[in-house]
Amino acid sequence: MTVNAPMTVRKVLRMGDPRLRQVAQPVTVYDTAELHELIVDMQDTMAAYDGAGLAATQIGVMQRVMIFGVDTNPRYPEVEPIEMTVLINPEFTVLSDERENGWEACLSVPGMRGIVPRYTHIQYRGYDEFGNLIEREASGFHARVFQHEFDHLQGILYPDKIEDRLSFGFTDELQAADA
Ligand code: NI
Repeated sequence: MTVNAPMTVRKVLRMGDPRLRQVAQPVTVYDTAELHELIVDMQDTMAAYDGAGLAATQIGVMQRVMIFGVDTNPRYPEVEPIEMTVLINPEFTVLSDERENGWEACLSVPGMRGIVPRYTHIQYRGYDEFGNLIEREASGFHARVFQHEFDHLQGILYPDKIEDRLSFGFTDELQAADA
């Protein structure tokens, strides 16, 4: 990328847009100009919105493409870093029935958060934009981020999976109430 390469930040769809409820279609051909462009747009968009992950459906592209990654942040030492990952046609296997509750937020549900149970230990696999297989075990926050993005490709948003409905609300109100 050159210094003057333009950022292509796409608009992130918000809950209520029916496109977020569609099931995304598998990618059939890897390493195409179109796929590379989509991924760059998704990376630019995720960075601009300061997200931990993004699914193609969130920018209105109904393909099974997700990206995620979290840098080490000294302000949030409890958040484990996750390698920046492009995952196409993802699948996963649950390695333990154990689930744990954790806070989630979503660029498509801005300003809000809620507690969602997720499997704590999974194995996921998929392909990068060149068609190379990626297969990893993930636990904790890493497993949570994967499951959240995978749900997007199924047309599922995290509020659908909240069991403790009182945990769902505007982040600033929840923080004020908890203070
Ligand atoms: Ni999301």
